[in-house]
Amino acid sequence: MPTGEIIPAGFDPDFDDRAWNDAWQHLPIAPIPPGRHPGGYRVERQTVRAIPIFDRVYQLSAPLDCRLLFDPDGRLWMSDTPQERIMMVNNGRRSRGHVLIGGLGLGLYPQYAVAGAAGQATAFTVIERSAVVCDIVAPTLTRALDAPLEIRLGDIAAFLAGTATTRFDTIFLDVWDTLDAAALPYVNALRDHALRHLTPEGRVLLWGYGWMLELFETACRQVLAVPPDARRGWLLAQAGDAPQAIPLLMPVIEHFADDPVEDEAPALAWCRRHALTLTAAPDGTSAYPTG
Ligand SMILES: C[S@@+](CC[C@H](N)C(=O)[O-])C[C@H]1O[C@@H](n2cnc3c(N)ncnc32)[C@H](O)[C@@H]1O
Repeated sequence: MPTGEIIPAGFDPDFDDRAWNDAWQHLPIAPIPPGRHPGGYRVERQTVRAIPIFDRVYQLSAPLDCRLLFDPDGRLWMSDTPQERIMMVNNGRRSRGHVLIGGLGLGLYPQYAVAGAAGQATAFTVIERSAVVCDIVAPTLTRALDAPLEIRLGDIAAFLAGTATTRFDTIFLDVWDTLDAAALPYVNALRDHALRHLTPEGRVLLWGYGWMLELFETACRQVLAVPPDARRGWLLAQAGDAPQAIPLLMPVIEHFADDPVEDEAPALAWCRRHALTLTAAPDGTSAYPTG
């Protein structure tokens, strides 16, 4: 079944925001001032010369001034390192018109999406859950962005689940902390709600979606390489540290029960389509296909 039959217009699951670009090197972003903030949050400046980008360490041609936001427990929460910038540029390039953003973060994406930078966005509405993030980032972003910007404190999931009033040309979502295939049901559920808020030509962009799909396909490839009657045991043994893999992969095992999967390509194509249709149950803990 072609992807288009299960995913409505407005979302391109083949878009992978890891595509290499060096546009980020020529598009300056406004740096958040380093400092300490209420509640124990802090922004630090770091100059990097060599840094991992996706799967390799790169030596940069010139030192890069980066910002790191740490939470009150001293954990790195967000950064504007090259990998982040590359992914945000790719999403920015696909953006136009009035954009709804789920998750302000360090405010990189709108600076790349705006018309005159990498994209064609003309106005931004941001929904951000953290008041601290708004306080830290909004002053810098408001000064830097040459476009109307409205930042609302709130939960993007609740907003998207509500009635569609304003229609957006682009909806960019980046509210999941890690790129993990187990996040796909939650991300897909957000996507399906977001599609209802688009203009007819609008599009939904999801940070890291191509990467998450690839992680899912890799996990499927591994489980399907095991003989059919040993797959359940293999999964349970492997999933010790990652129990979230069990509800994700059990439907794959069930679908290919008794099938040794001698031809991997069509099996993985089924897995990919399956991944596109998983959505989170209301409690966010289990997964079931929508199609
Ligand atoms: C990784 S950052 C986004 C980075 C951003 N794309 C940028 O350009 O810098 C994720 C942001 O989403 C916010 N967030 C997480 N869950 C949210 C939710 N349910 N609704 C709104 N914002 C949320 C976090 O507080 C954080 O600011």
